[in-house]
Parts: sequence; C-alpha cells; structure tokens
Amino acid sequence: MAKATTGICLVDVILFSFFLVAPRAFAAAAAVTDTLRGGRNITDGETLVSADGTFTLGFFSPGVSAKRYLGIWFTVSPDAVCWVANRDSPLNVTSGVLAISDAGSLVLLDGSGGGHVAWSSNSPYAASVEARLSNSGNLVVRDASGSTTTLWQSFDHPSNTLLPGMKMGKNLWTGAEWDLTSWRSPDDPSPGTYRRVLDTSGIPDVVLWQDGVERYRSGPWNGRWFSGNPEAATYTTNLITFQVTVSPGEMSYGYVSKPGAPLTRSVVLDTGVVKRLVWEATSRTWQTYFQGPRDVCDAYAKCGAFGLCDANAPSTSFCGCLRGFSPTSPAAWAMKDASGGCRRNVPLRCGNTTTTDGFALVQGVKLPDTHNASVDTGITVEECRARCVANCSCLAYAAADIRGGGGGSGCVIWTGGIVDLRYVDQGQGLFLRLAESELDEGRSRKFMLWKTVIAAPISATIIMLVLLLAIWCRRKHKISEGIPHNPATTVPSVDLQKVKAATGNFSQSHVIGQGGFGIVYKGQLPDGRMIAVKRLHQSTLAKKGKKDFSNRSLDLYIFGT
Ligand SMILES: *[C@@H]1O[C@H](CO)[C@@H](O)[C@H](O)[C@H]1NC(C)=O
Ligand SMILES: *[C@@H]1O[C@H](CO)[C@@H](O)[C@H](O)[C@H]1NC(C)=O
Ligand SMILES: *[C@@H]1O[C@H](CO)[C@@H](O)[C@H](O)[C@H]1NC(C)=O
Ligand SMILES: *[C@@H]1O[C@H](CO)[C@@H](O)[C@H](O)[C@H]1NC(C)=O
Ligand SMILES: *[C@@H]1O[C@H](CO)[C@@H](O)[C@H](O)[C@H]1NC(C)=O
Repeated sequence: MAKATTGICLVDVILFSFFLVAPRAFAAAAAVTDTLRGGRNITDGETLVSADGTFTLGFFSPGVSAKRYLGIWFTVSPDAVCWVANRDSPLNVTSGVLAISDAGSLVLLDGSGGGHVAWSSNSPYAASVEARLSNSGNLVVRDASGSTTTLWQSFDHPSNTLLPGMKMGKNLWTGAEWDLTSWRSPDDPSPGTYRRVLDTSGIPDVVLWQDGVERYRSGPWNGRWFSGNPEAATYTTNLITFQVTVSPGEMSYGYVSKPGAPLTRSVVLDTGVVKRLVWEATSRTWQTYFQGPRDVCDAYAKCGAFGLCDANAPSTSFCGCLRGFSPTSPAAWAMKDASGGCRRNVPLRCGNTTTTDGFALVQGVKLPDTHNASVDTGITVEECRARCVANCSCLAYAAADIRGGGGGSGCVIWTGGIVDLRYVDQGQGLFLRLAESELDEGRSRKFMLWKTVIAAPISATIIMLVLLLAIWCRRKHKISEGIPHNPATTVPSVDLQKVKAATGNFSQSHVIGQGGFGIVYKGQLPDGRMIAVKRLHQSTLAKKGKKDFSNRSLDLYIFGT
C-alpha cells in the first residue's frame, strides 16, 4: 500500500509542480513568490508560496470564525493549517498587512492606519532583512545582506503541528523550549488546554498535558521508538525517520521525511487527541496512521503505582497489580477505581551489604514513567542489574536502549513509584525487585532468572517441536497403513469448556512448558485421549487482531489413546 501511495504521490507532485511552475514561467504577472523583502508587504488575499509549492502563507479564517489570522498551510489542503502567527490577537478586519518593520522584525498590522501591531516576530535588529517561506514550511527571517544567520524562524514557535524538520524539546544552552499547544477549538487557534511536551528528565518521552495534569505518555525513547508505540516501527517504514537528540546542548525529538514519502504532519487536536496524518493524493484526504491515546490503558497512571493495565482484559478488569503486589484499597478497586494503585505483599529484605531480594521479569510492557528514574546509557544490562542489587532504593530496572537486539543495553533504575505501566505488543522487559519468597516458590534467584530469560522460550520451542514431530510421525505412519483418520490433529475449532475441563481450567499443574508466545498445557479428554494445548499470551493475541480470549487463541493437539 505504501508503495502504491508513493508512486501515485510522485505523479501527483510532478503534475502539481507543473501547474504551479507553468503559470510562473509563462505569466510573470502572477507574482508568486516565497520571499518578503523590506519595503514590500503582504495584504489580506496575497500569499507567499514556498519554492516547491508545498506550503502557503497568508490570511485565513478558521472554521466558522470571521476573525482573520496569519498562518501557514499545506497548499493542497488549506484547512491543514500548521502554524499561526497571531493566535492570541485575531484581526476583526480584512485589512491586515504583514510587513517588515524598521527594526527588522516581521510585524502584522491591522491596517487601520494607526499602525496597531497585532503580532511581531520580535527578532533581533538587522538593518536589512527578508523573510522566506522554505519548502519545509518554515518561515525564516534572515539578514538580507548575504549573511546566512537565521534571526528568527517559525519552527522555533510551534503551534499545534509538528512538521518534518521541526523539533520538540529543549535547547540546553539558551533554555529555549519547543512544545505543541492545541487550538481552543476548530474555529479558534488561540492556545487550548492541551500541551505536548518532550519530558527531558529521565529518558526523552513525549507527554501530553491538560491544564497541568499529565494525560498520556508515548513512553521512553528506546533507540528505535517510544516504548509505548512499537507500531511506529511499521507505519514509519516508508514515511519518516525519527530523530532524537540527547547531547549537552540539546534534548529534542523530531523527524524527517524519507525520500519520496507523502506529506505528513503530527498534530495535537483541541480534543486532546494526538494524530499522525499522511496525505493521500489519490483521495485528496489525510489518512490517520496513528492516534493516541489509543485505549483505556493509555490514560496516564490508569492503574496507579505498581499497577499494570491490560487493554485486552474484559472491560471490568483492565487493571491488575504487578506480581508480588495487591490493591492498596480493595474497596476502591471493587468500584473500578484503581488509581490508588497497589502495595507490596512482602517487604524487601535489603541491608547494608546483603540482600536476598530477586527480580521478576515483567514482559511486553511500555516502560513506566522515567521522570524520576536514573539513567545510564553507558553500561550493560548486567551491570545495571548489579547496580540495582547493590542499592536498596532500586525497585526495578530495565534496558535503556533496545538497538542491537538481545537484552538491549544501558540502564534505567526506578527508585520511586512504578507508574503508568501497561502491556503493549513488542513491549519491553521490566525487572521488578521482589522479596525472595515472592519469587516462584522460593527457588533460587539464579535459577529463576535462567528459567525466565533463557530456558522458558527454549523449552517451549522444544516441546512444540517434539509434539509436531510426534504428530507428523504418527500421521505418516497411519497414512502408510491406509487408515483414513489422523490420530493427532490440530483442531481449529474446539469446545473451550472441554479444553478447560481437560486442563483443570489451565491450572499450573498441567503446564508442560512456556515461552514468549504462550503456555503449553497437557490434559486428558473424557474419552481418554491426551491433548496438548498452547494458550497464547494476551499480547500475542492482540498482535493477531484477536480481542477476546476464546478457543481461537488456542493451538490444540489431540493424541489417540
Ligand atoms: C504595502 O505596500 C503597498 C504597495 O507596495 C503600499 O502602498 C502600502 O502603503 C503598504 N502598506 C503598509 C502598511 O506598509
Ligand atoms: C476585535 O474586536 C474585539 C471585540 O469587538 C476587540 O476587543 C478587539 O480589541 C478587536 N481586535 C482588534 C485587533 O482590533
Ligand atoms: C552500614 O554501613 C555503614 C558504613 O558502611 C556502617 O557504619 C553501619 O554500621 C552499617 N549498618 C549496618 C546495620 O550494618
Ligand atoms: C517524581 O518526583 C516528584 C517529587 O517527589 C513527584 O511529585 C512525582 O510524582 C514523581 N513522578 C513520578 C512519575 O514518579
Ligand atoms: C541509590 O540510587 C539512588 C538513585 O539513583 C541514588 O540517589 C543513591 O545515591 C544510590 N545509593 C547508593 C548507596 O548508591
């Protein structure tokens, strides 16, 4: 699909540029330009158009509003306004004028003759400046005397839209910050209640705030994507490349378009929804590639501290507690209010020099809020574990970076609450510190870790292979004997109740193996036949688009008596 879109888009761009360039070449009177020079001005009705035609700057009225704003929009889609100059000071008249002041700033005058300034770039003084609308949609004020120094640019003053080449975050030298702020309504570009900000404490994480309340986190950057949005790996393939900068001078997040990619933008709507939109030239519409928050579990800290949200659970039980924890207020939980979170069942035992605590691996999650976490990208995950063991304040640790595969690298250590944890497909692993007695019937920690990290996936794979081999051998054997039915078969549709009964309702005592995708149980049907059932994990189910737990989430093998 992406390929087709790109192809069509290219044709479109060529056609579009032809129509755009042709009139310019043959009818110079049209006076389409991308640059405003000193002494000239842009009145309501006139525009600047970027050299490649993608972006237009001019006056507009949003939605049903009659007020006039100066803004930049996509030429193909004038409703897609990506920047507004005078968000807070609309003009009531259509006599607005954009000009360059004597001091070298861009000024928006209401044209009343009184010289009332509705908006100004307040850029530093330069004797002779010009403003150019670049092909990226950035309005740049430069010294017109040939210097390449940028005096001011609209990309440094984002509205509600992040375009390719823009940034969110902080310039740590100048203290300048780049945030997105929603419009108040589709008819009113003045700043609304939602702000999208790069949290630069801990690991960079894109956070949506509403009036000072944290609403939604993309999850910490893990080198490849934001921990809560692994689907980005898929939808960005032919579209964009993320650019996250962590340096002494800057902490920022942005993205650039891949060559030949369609137009794209990321926008914070007045409703608090964050969208990644992509222009589809054939239908001339914006397609939504990503939308967040996606579900109930994206609501910040939905299940409180040490809670874990599972969006695939039945609607009454999204929230659970981490292993070794129980609801702080069972009464509130019974009323479906899990925000009070969970508390530890058995206290940790950690002294000056020794600890008997161990770690449980919580797999497939969006990592918790790292705002108060300590981060070291320069050590291995093994060193991270040792650091956590040695520090009684350490409650959990995880890899900071998953590039390079394996267990990843780097170190995040949580000492405060574990907040805003949820399951996601292709999620990461969190190592949770627990008292020894909470760890798998007191078996040694070493064994535990070995079992979860290495042995389980291997043994589950081996068991499945052996089963399949057995089925294959038996099938072959029977076929050669000319017996028409298969004694061991996979059954696409089977009575769930029967399977439940046969496996003691998927009881622990029937487990014969487990791995990354599911748990394998053995059982016996009433007619005496043995069965093996692989029950897929919820996260695996979600990946396969299966919402509910049903017999479709089982792989069943039946063996003849
Ligand atoms: C805008 O430019 C026109 C013609 O170049 C000029 O007549 C007019 O006075 C200018 N307006 C302002 C506000 O500078
Ligand atoms: C627009 O009109 C409103 C109310 O009529 C007034 O308060 C505001 O100052 C006017 N704005 C300008 C730029 O004239
Ligand atoms: C803990 O360590 C400190 C210094 O390392 C020592 O002074 C103190 O006595 C130790 N406390 C216990 C309970 O071991
Ligand atoms: C971080 O610490 C501050 C101050 O103790 C606290 O108010 C805040 O809730 C903490 N945030 C997280 C995510 O733990
Ligand atoms: C334990 O970790 C916390 C948070 O990283 C840190 O402030 C503290 O100094 C550490 N304590 C020791 C003994 O290393």
